[in-house]
Amino acid sequence: MKNHDWIAILDFGSQYTQLIARRVREQHVYSEIVRHDTPAAKLKQRQPAGIILSGGPMSVFASKAPTCDPALFKLGIPVLGICYGMQLMAKTLGGAVKPGLAREYGSARINVTDARSLFHGLPPHLDVWMSHGDQVLKMPTGFRVLAKTHTCPVAAMADQKRKMYGIQFHPEVVHTRHGTEILRRFIFNVCKCRGDWRMEQFIEESIRAIRRKVGKSHVVCGLSGGVDSAVVAMLLHKAIGDQLHCIFVDNGLLRYSEARQVEETFIKAFGIDLHVAHAQAQFLSDLKGVVEPEKKRKAIGKRFIDVFAEEARRLGDIRFLAQGTLYPDVIESVSPLGGPSVTIKSHHNVGGLPPDLKFQLIEPLRELFKDEVRALGRELGMPKAIINRQPFPGPGLAVRIIGEVTQERATLLQQADLRVQEEIAAYDRGHTIWQAFAVLLPVKSVGVMGDGRTYENTVVVRAVTSQDGMTADWARLPHDLLARLSNRIINEVRGVNRVVYDISSKPPATIEWE
Ligand code: XMP
Repeated sequence: MKNHDWIAILDFGSQYTQLIARRVREQHVYSEIVRHDTPAAKLKQRQPAGIILSGGPMSVFASKAPTCDPALFKLGIPVLGICYGMQLMAKTLGGAVKPGLAREYGSARINVTDARSLFHGLPPHLDVWMSHGDQVLKMPTGFRVLAKTHTCPVAAMADQKRKMYGIQFHPEVVHTRHGTEILRRFIFNVCKCRGDWRMEQFIEESIRAIRRKVGKSHVVCGLSGGVDSAVVAMLLHKAIGDQLHCIFVDNGLLRYSEARQVEETFIKAFGIDLHVAHAQAQFLSDLKGVVEPEKKRKAIGKRFIDVFAEEARRLGDIRFLAQGTLYPDVIESVSPLGGPSVTIKSHHNVGGLPPDLKFQLIEPLRELFKDEVRALGRELGMPKAIINRQPFPGPGLAVRIIGEVTQERATLLQQADLRVQEEIAAYDRGHTIWQAFAVLLPVKSVGVMGDGRTYENTVVVRAVTSQDGMTADWARLPHDLLARLSNRIINEVRGVNRVVYDISSKPPATIEWE
């Protein structure tokens, strides 16, 4: 990224690292997350206007605590350490850090004692979000305190001469009031960024990078029907035209009519080379008798890979595989520091292909959040119907059919879900709802229709609001809308006599039921 300023974010494993990157980009300054151990010389070559050291889950005293190249602090590039980043900075530059006995987690109020730099023009007391164990006991030479709390004497510090700053709290989360203002003071006042970065530049840069990487080779890309893979395909199509080949595996578990829409949009509207594998029967046969969620996911993932691999082999000599992996997928599936983390749900993608298909990966969306992907799609001229499509799980409706997946149950769910889609689309014109869908329960209950007793299925309506899918709240839908949904599903979908609304947030529930 030579043409505009950018901020490098060194990742020490915080769940908020990506949020920092996003907050910076919201200020029209490009930012990119790099490994915490990126050599200073390498960073220097790329000339970031500033460096942010992210937070992290470890203590600086832990034996495997991630560190950074100490030469980083001698580059003359401004540095902002956040939480772990601040403690690491203090420790590396000769200060002292006190190991925390307990983790301080939650809201705290800081008193600004020096309002000249990061806190310039901000109120003297600020509510901030803390999440730390260790804290800075003695600042390195040259640093001054900028803010404190009653339990934390150095809540923010600075060495203005060397342009180094540390804050113990998280300015990137919404719970920190004026957090963006604090980041802005670093980005603009200290790093002197211009704030002229726009999404078109991301497109230009990505296209250049893709062309450089791919050369004259060919690339295969799996289309899932979702917005991420669609945007990746468009971006690659723009970059390398007919060197791109897309594969769409129709597993019979998409929402009503989505498979057809994918074919129509990509082949007819964009002229992309699309290969459709009609594999509905194979998926259904693999899912016969499978009830346990992880087993379902694994079965679908495995079959997907087999079908995909077969199609890919048919394409002949392909060196690259393009994927629409987003950062939230990356952090929910593996820890950013490379170590194993708890698998909550095995996310399904085209990892683990057979050895004869050794592709190099192209993941141009790795840095982005969903709404940034949508902005990118708009910029690429994609149709609204695809851009505004809700996130959809790789294993499809299978994780919304609780219990065994059969053709009959899949069709029933598609029909119920279609009513949810229609009603929500009419209601939510501003796209405030992150996802809304139907879930089919393996629970029958007694009802009465006309003069007769019924004993039929239960459908759950789930609608959530979310920023990024990592946390979510159930949508406060108007009662009239809920009534309409219930009426329509029960009256129009055969085999349903009860509709319930899911009022659980994530955490502790997840968005999908399986
Ligand atoms: P959960 O259910 O974990 O979902 O709260 C978070 C977000 O991820 C989507 N999701 C998936 N996306 N492959 C995907 O690409 C998957 O296997 C998968 N499972 C869940 C889910 O729809 C929600 O937006």
